[in-house]
Amino acid sequence: MILDKIEKLLEEVKGLNASTPEEIEALRLKYLSKKGEISSLMADFRNVPAEQKKEVGIKINELKQTALERINSLREQCETNEAKNDDLDLTRTPYPIKFGTRHPLTIVKNEIIDIFSRMGFTLADGPEVEDDLHVFTKMNFAADHPARDMQDTFFVETNPNDVTKNIILRSHTSSVQARVMETTQPPIRVICPGRVYRNEAITARAHCFFHQIEGLYIDKNVSFTDLKQVLLTFARELFGPDTKIRLRPSYFPFTEPSAEMDISCHICGGKGCGFCKHTGWVEILGCGMVDPNVLELCGIDSKIYSGYAFGLGVERITNLKYQVSDLRLFSENDVRFLHEFDAAN
Ligand code: PHE
Repeated sequence: MILDKIEKLLEEVKGLNASTPEEIEALRLKYLSKKGEISSLMADFRNVPAEQKKEVGIKINELKQTALERINSLREQCETNEAKNDDLDLTRTPYPIKFGTRHPLTIVKNEIIDIFSRMGFTLADGPEVEDDLHVFTKMNFAADHPARDMQDTFFVETNPNDVTKNIILRSHTSSVQARVMETTQPPIRVICPGRVYRNEAITARAHCFFHQIEGLYIDKNVSFTDLKQVLLTFARELFGPDTKIRLRPSYFPFTEPSAEMDISCHICGGKGCGFCKHTGWVEILGCGMVDPNVLELCGIDSKIYSGYAFGLGVERITNLKYQVSDLRLFSENDVRFLHEFDAAN
């Protein structure tokens, strides 16, 4: 009887497990304390017949020894684990790292860059804090021309006598095109993505900064047909193969002729809906043939070369693609808004 009990306890004790000091102490109390299992065996021991006492005594000792060893080794293990945990760096980034998402404007910008890259355009970059010379003067804005009002911006330094000392935040990335033309002879085929600034009150539809991608193509015999075909290809790549475009006459100081381009509304397919204000068309960019004055001002012979340019707002295109109703969402950094674009990444 008692031997069975000891055998059972022996098995139990061999398999003991615990990982915290508290759990180990509980085991010690259960088996080795005065009121523990092994002490209670001692009480039973008194009733064991004399001829069995030796055998039972040896077994109880074996049990006690095994329990002690097991509990001690658990304690040792626990201590070495604790020592290891001393190296724990609680400031470390927890794993797995939750990835962020690309900003919707970056997603759309990359898509646009990708389309034009496939048509042979390369990227050009330039400063956001620019001089009047590159933003306006070389773009054929006369000093007192009212077109400057359409692009009122922020003035860092003013000097009425020297356009290179009139420092402003660029109001379009055409300034980058001016810099490319100054330093490169045609053929030129670039797109200029970047942030631009305008003096606008901040509302759902306007902000004091936004993002543009402008394109410039200059070579011999470049015609309006080339411009139209490139823009049609672009619109179909971005909004789908059934997209139609239309060009309406417009005015920019740096292009002649100039046009605004609309695409057939991608929501209703051109039938007319609330989104396109029932016209079937939505405006997406400005474009035109580079004014010969601009070429000359930037050191390119306008008798040999001609070219086209276009410019689009990344926010505008993103709004069209994803129907974001308030421009301010793009710069508020609200992760709930940004995570809406997880799938588009
Ligand atoms: N620079 C113009 C703007 O910011 C856009 C544009 C670029 C229009 C090139 C025509 C040609 O409004």
